[in-house]
Amino acid sequence: MTKRIGILTSGGDCAGLNAVIRAVTLRAHHGYGWKTVGIGYGTLGLLERPIDARELDPTRLDAALAHRGGTFLGSTNRGDPFAFPMPDGSARDRSGEIADAITSLGLDGMIGVGGDGSLAILRRLFAPVGIPFVGVPKTIDNDVANTERAVGYSTAIAIATEALDRLQPTGASHDRIMVLEVMGRDAGHIAIAAGIAGGADVVLIPEIGWRLAHVTRHIATLRERGRRAALVVVAEAAGKSDDPPESAGGPAVDAPDHRGMGAWLADRLAAATGAEARATVLGHVQRGAEPTAEDRLLAAALGVRAVDVLAAGKADRMVAWWNRQVIDVPLEKVVGRSRTVDPDGALVRTARALGICLGDAA
Ligand code: F6P
Repeated sequence: MTKRIGILTSGGDCAGLNAVIRAVTLRAHHGYGWKTVGIGYGTLGLLERPIDARELDPTRLDAALAHRGGTFLGSTNRGDPFAFPMPDGSARDRSGEIADAITSLGLDGMIGVGGDGSLAILRRLFAPVGIPFVGVPKTIDNDVANTERAVGYSTAIAIATEALDRLQPTGASHDRIMVLEVMGRDAGHIAIAAGIAGGADVVLIPEIGWRLAHVTRHIATLRERGRRAALVVVAEAAGKSDDPPESAGGPAVDAPDHRGMGAWLADRLAAATGAEARATVLGHVQRGAEPTAEDRLLAAALGVRAVDVLAAGKADRMVAWWNRQVIDVPLEKVVGRSRTVDPDGALVRTARALGICLGDAA
């Protein structure tokens, strides 16, 4: 009997989602003769009546889709169905409506592409309905536990590195400190990787406690030695230095405000060093691009494996990239955990070895 599996993308978009949808649909069709149903806007599509779902035609998912950014199914990072925000400000549990929708679609399995928050919600939604669920990790933040790589991360690093490549010459031309703020809600993976690849002088991440005094001393030393421009990468989640303003030599400035870490840091560095400083907030530019070849490969490998996991009769799993292998792991070992930058890991050691200041010493 032909089976029908569902796929949805949930949480913030990133590059490579279309490549996952394509890989899942092609593997289901070519490998097992299964049909794939795409659900619109993550769990929101399952709250719509009629349900926002359509069968995906494998013959139409050509190469053009693999390199298109975003997700053609749509996604959401709002509206937890267990506490759905209602117009009157209250929160309502709408998970029952989703269970009804899943049942009425007649699905034999479900694949959800999401970060740890989305995977936790999807797991909770599908378990009681008795439909096998498999997760595919995606997030530019790369902080999903038990996978070395999440779809979208490689592209985000490439974009942040390209931004540094562009900031370097303009900074050098004006003897300026160029501060680049990159995304990473709770983790510094993008910052440390792009900082190394882009030749940054300073990288500040939430995983390593830093002091403004160390950063300003590092930049002052560079300037004394004749290099008057500096490249600084700061993760949006890096938090503020614990230096009181006086010891940093600058005026009292509030903690990062709505302008974010980058602007806050640029103000402080300018005041403390006497150099001009400019901040660039890269923001969603890191998410919206065409996926790198590496992200497309990861998307393909994880998408194929997700279907194979369902075909093997397994459930409640997440496919993962580990030690150059595609594996699958229990979702219970993923949700509620996160994989932040290892302060003793290879990237941090590499950064230190290159003389990059991480703010914990000058
Ligand atoms: O988790 C992915 C991410 O892009 C984070 O890096 C960032 O903090 C957040 O999402 C931004 O979310 P939104 O798209 O809702 O502004």
